[in-house]
Amino acid sequence: MTSAHPRVGIVMGSDSDWPIMSEAGSVLSQLGIAWEATVASAHRTPARARAWAEAAQRKGYAAIIVGAGAAAHLGGVIAAEVNIPVIGVPIDATPLNGLDALLSIVQMPGGIPVACMAVGKAGARNAGVFAAQIIATADRAVADRLARYRAEMVAEVEQKAQALEARIAKGE
Ligand code: RP5
Repeated sequence: MTSAHPRVGIVMGSDSDWPIMSEAGSVLSQLGIAWEATVASAHRTPARARAWAEAAQRKGYAAIIVGAGAAAHLGGVIAAEVNIPVIGVPIDATPLNGLDALLSIVQMPGGIPVACMAVGKAGARNAGVFAAQIIATADRAVADRLARYRAEMVAEVEQKAQALEARIAKGE
């Protein structure tokens, strides 16, 4: 979802991250929050990453979601330039299955936080929910949509539990 006033900026190190990072966009759209996304690499395009961060501060996003794999410095590089909460998603893009990115994102030095999510798709989805929770502290409509989102999850699990119990009862 893009609009004149996106409230969340999503940036990732490579377009190869998009199949994972699109989860963050999907959940934000589901919660009625406008967002925009692009690619900038801390290592390959440091000037673009810095310019993106400066623009993000000017645009006044409520939250920034950063996805990166390998030696994932992008979250920290963006966080160093802004006073906006930065949410990092480690991507499993290398033979280390995301452990490299996880450690790069999670172990920030004191004073420059990046909220580190789980590796991969669950992390990207949680980044969207986390950004929505930040927005919800000052936006009742988003808070209500988040409550519905959680209620739907509860109903889904109930349904799955009942279906599984029925299968077990039938001896399947
Ligand atoms: C990181 O390197 C990107 O965030 C990506 O996860 C990884 C591999 O990038 P590509 O080689 O696929 O462009 O910078």
